[in-house]
Amino acid sequence: MTERRVPRPRRFLVCEPRHFAVQYAINPWMHPGRPVDAGLAREQWRSLVRAFTEHGHTVDRVEPVPGLPDMVFAANAALVVGGRVFGSLFHAPERRPESEHYDTWFKTAGYDVYRPESVAEGEGDLVWTGRYVLAGTGFRTTPEAHREAQEYLGRPVIGLRLVDPYFYHLDTALFVLDDENICYYPEAFSPGSREVLRRLYPRAVLATREDALAFGLNSVCDGRHVFIAPQAAALAGRLADHGYVPVPVDLSELHKAGGGIKCCTQEIR
Ligand code: ARG
Repeated sequence: MTERRVPRPRRFLVCEPRHFAVQYAINPWMHPGRPVDAGLAREQWRSLVRAFTEHGHTVDRVEPVPGLPDMVFAANAALVVGGRVFGSLFHAPERRPESEHYDTWFKTAGYDVYRPESVAEGEGDLVWTGRYVLAGTGFRTTPEAHREAQEYLGRPVIGLRLVDPYFYHLDTALFVLDDENICYYPEAFSPGSREVLRRLYPRAVLATREDALAFGLNSVCDGRHVFIAPQAAALAGRLADHGYVPVPVDLSELHKAGGGIKCCTQEIR
């Protein structure tokens, strides 16, 4: 018998991949020489937005800016908890200009925005669990930024070290299922961080490297539905065994930039 899983309506911020391309390589997935079908990327992205709205979620949009091909990855722009916006300072100079556009959106919507002094990549590395922030470091976001996030948000921040360059952001190796549980790929973390996760979430749903390479951990869960890459079929099956309802959404063109469903989705809380 599995528990009854109850969805909670969410508010998401997204950015259409109108100017999406792979023009530089800042993670091992990106190969600027290889073709990307921009039309297909847009179509796939629209199917994600449709899936969110069909499941009762609200979707807001930031206007995409020419020359910022990774702007579609809205998750990286901030972590928003309790109406406080902890903004980003991107590691790659190519992505730094994105922040000002997202910050403007938040300010126009009436939010205060904190600009970190150290490298911080929003929900890419800072994951709100409902009780505290799980914070990745090792490739992008720095431990100094973890401290800034704790100070600004007034919520406990738990640092975790990522060790596999294919899983350079925390949201490529872990996602939150609900207030009680998470799903993650243990080998993406240092031994100590793995132990921390084991202690915090003894009943977590564990993923394999195959699941992770299929962007299965870059999922969004509303407490019941898991918007997940169809390439991660094995993980989707395991989540179904736990009472969650997988909703497959294929973003294969965006995978070429190292991003998937969660990367394209900023949650406003
Ligand atoms: N090309 C982008 C980068 O490397 C992909 C970002 C993916 N976003 C994420 N939340 N993991 O920065």
